[in-house]
Amino acid sequence: MLNISRRHAPLCFTDLYKNSFHCLTFCSLQNSKMASSSANAVISSFFFLSLLIGGSFAQLSETFYDQTCPRLANVVRASVKKAIESDIRAGAKLIRLHFHDCFVNGCDGSVLLEDAPGIVSELNSPGNQGIQGLEIVDAIKADVERECPGIVSCADILAQASKDSVDVQGGPSWRVLYGRRDSRIANKTGADSNLASPFETLDQLKAKFRNVGLNTMDLVSLSGAHTFGRSRCRFFSHRFANFNNTGRPDQSLNPDYRSFLEGVCSAGADTRANFDPVTPDVFDKNYYTNLQVGKGLLQSDQELFSTPGADTIAIVNSFAEREGTFFKEFRQSMINMGNIKPLTGGQGEIRRNCRRVNSNSGLLGGEGEGSEGHDVM
Ligand code: HEM
Repeated sequence: MLNISRRHAPLCFTDLYKNSFHCLTFCSLQNSKMASSSANAVISSFFFLSLLIGGSFAQLSETFYDQTCPRLANVVRASVKKAIESDIRAGAKLIRLHFHDCFVNGCDGSVLLEDAPGIVSELNSPGNQGIQGLEIVDAIKADVERECPGIVSCADILAQASKDSVDVQGGPSWRVLYGRRDSRIANKTGADSNLASPFETLDQLKAKFRNVGLNTMDLVSLSGAHTFGRSRCRFFSHRFANFNNTGRPDQSLNPDYRSFLEGVCSAGADTRANFDPVTPDVFDKNYYTNLQVGKGLLQSDQELFSTPGADTIAIVNSFAEREGTFFKEFRQSMINMGNIKPLTGGQGEIRRNCRRVNSNSGLLGGEGEGSEGHDVM
């Protein structure tokens, strides 16, 4: 059952089904001067059909919010800039949330859901423990809701905020695709198995990416997001001694860098170190030049360059050589990642509060909180 309030009822359902054949069919019918009761019946059937199959055909699009929230990009960008002004890691936190969102059930905002009746939060998964930035998402969502209430999904906010985070910190920009909807479920088990671990080998990392349709180029370019942000010592201090029961430190870790990190980590396992010791808060190609000299922070970072005979070495070298090459591939890989199994059309909902599903979810025609959006029951 469809639930669209008058307030947001689009003139044409292209707002719901941008790029959808079904929409075009419906809209042209809707605009026809030959509207009659029989035509209405045809329209209803078409519309019902489009609801049934629209989700599987609907695609993300740059213009999805052109009519319903035309200032979205400006609003999110201003909000991200404000967040970065008060927390230099805000951008790093946001893009990491988007990554962890997309790898579990696709980019559907599921990572943001907290424990609730019927919801076992993905935040409980080891891969998400200590993840930060939910309050930054809340603030962006509040700004977006003020501008266009009930229209923009939390999943789309993460995608847009990630682009802005990179761009504001000196990295590339790209046209974000929109139209994702928010899940009504979380998948903690999926988070346990799908999220990449810093203790994994290159083959394991490649497999995790392959499982969500991303290739080796995506793995190498997206890992470049570790050009900014921090990691807690607990994720890399195993490299300091008796690495993999060898009785020695990780041989791919630069000894001077190791001594430096040991100093940092003497303060405890939860101490944070910069991913990039050279330009910690700038989005640049230094992640790759660091790998070339054994200064990848995580084992999983250094694997890209130090795995003997790996096809990733040439990619690292090409990114280290030319920032433009890295930026070009990063842009494309962010779009690829953002396209992972989105909920579209009539699937999911537009959450009012990114941390929980709308209270009327599952109630036919409910008019409670969150019902004013594009919710399709
Ligand atoms: C390839 C596999 C990856 C692994 C194993 C990995 C692992 C990690 C770990 C262990 C941390 C530190 C977490 C903490 O201390 O709480 C981290 C932080 C971070 N990750 Fe990844 N990551 C991977 C890929 C990515 C990708 C694809 C992106 C984004 C496109 C990304 C973005 C970030 C950012 C920006 C941070 C810093 C966050 C902050 O400062 O709060 N990572 N990652």
